[in-house]
Amino acid sequence: MSHLTVTDHRTGAQIEVPITDGTIRATDLKQLKTAPDDFGLMTYDPAFLNTSSCRSSITFIDGDKGILRYRGYPIEELAENCTFLEVAYLLLHGELPAEEQLAVWVNLVKRHTMLHETTKKFLEGFRYDAHPMGMLISTIAALSTVYPESRDIKDPENRSKQIARLVAKMPTITAYCYRHHFGLPYIYPDNDLSFTENFMNMMWKMLEPKYVANPILARALDILFILHADHEQNCSTNTMRAVGSSQADPYVSVAAAAAALSGPLHGGANEEVLKMLDEIGSIESVPAYVKKVKDGHGKLMGFGHRVYKNYDPRAKIIKWTADQVFTVTGTNKKIEIAKELERIALEDEYFVKRKLYPNVDFYSGIIYEAMGFRPELFTVLFAIPRVVGWLAQWQELINDPEQKIARPRQIYTGYAERHVVPMGKRALASKG
Ligand code: SDX
Repeated sequence: MSHLTVTDHRTGAQIEVPITDGTIRATDLKQLKTAPDDFGLMTYDPAFLNTSSCRSSITFIDGDKGILRYRGYPIEELAENCTFLEVAYLLLHGELPAEEQLAVWVNLVKRHTMLHETTKKFLEGFRYDAHPMGMLISTIAALSTVYPESRDIKDPENRSKQIARLVAKMPTITAYCYRHHFGLPYIYPDNDLSFTENFMNMMWKMLEPKYVANPILARALDILFILHADHEQNCSTNTMRAVGSSQADPYVSVAAAAAALSGPLHGGANEEVLKMLDEIGSIESVPAYVKKVKDGHGKLMGFGHRVYKNYDPRAKIIKWTADQVFTVTGTNKKIEIAKELERIALEDEYFVKRKLYPNVDFYSGIIYEAMGFRPELFTVLFAIPRVVGWLAQWQELINDPEQKIARPRQIYTGYAERHVVPMGKRALASKG
């Protein structure tokens, strides 16, 4: 076992700290004290830039090589050979399902696609122009009141049932949010259809007796769902684990994770990319926009990544998928602006030095818009498949004997002890 020898020059003390899996245990540093009642040395790592929070066997990323694997399978092979529900099974159970196992899983999900009628009424309470992420987050949390038995998180059977419910209901809630915005009647699930075809049915069916999805678009959506299903300890998954670590039920934990995803630096970026491309407006305006970003005014949304310091492998597949979608929908100028933006950025020292490449959000929004989704729905489309990753990571947390309630420490920078001054003698408070 390799180790560090650490000398504390405050006291001359020396300790040996074992290195396992390329890490040291932060708690080993607590041996280094300046006095017997000293808490001991702590690490300080804002935003967890260099901190592992768990051991996980679900997803592997090599940021320098641009590698992404789910349970060991390269994302490229999964996107080419599997359906989203097949990959969902892989993430949740650790192995790709055999035919019979997949059929059982698909039928289980189909059994849970409907929403309790009171949940529909809950959705009707939102304004027509409510952002669908706010509606989604609230509705998922509300489902914890529909399924109170979900609080028994230690029962594996119960967990599995709630997981199937969440995977199945995300598309239904999303479609209801969309229909609510336009004052359209809700479309009930059609279990003759595949997962993505049924989602498209609930989104877009009008007065035709049976919705028929375009197979190229349905497959493109399935691939996009596969690409978005998990991504190790990203911000929203970290949130899922933190909330889940208090033994909260899976619905409120997923609602919290979705809330984290909604931020423009995370899953909200795909919506921001479209706004950015609209602002740029033309290929000729790209150089000026790039200069604005380099001058420190804003970011290239859909570029950069905390882990990938190479091209996000998902972005490559999404770019290919875009070409498939455009054979049906026709291309639009935004893809040309995006490609010009990518071309210029990949040659520019500012971005090259910072290893900024297109990430999963750069091209996905263009596809979604071409398919007919409103930009406000893009992050919801991210959440639909990511719920599988959140739940797989949540299960792993619950089954990990090393995990406890998440409760980080801090460096205190406030006042030392001081005492209350009676109101009559109190000076005006300075605006902190
Ligand atoms: C997702 O973590 C995951 O796995 C997330 C995700 C998943 O599947 O769950 O992959 C999904 O969230 C993808 C990321 C989507 N977000 C965006 O596209 C928003 C734009 N990107 C950035 O905000 C940024 O790149 C982050 C948030 C993605 C990563 O930021 P970091 O790792 O905290 O890096 P940083 O902000 O410290 O930036 C380092 C430098 C800075 O410049 P300097 O201060 O050194 O001069 O790079 C610059 C930043 O200003 N920079 C950018 C930039 N991203 C970073 N400059 C211009 N445009 C950008 N997009």
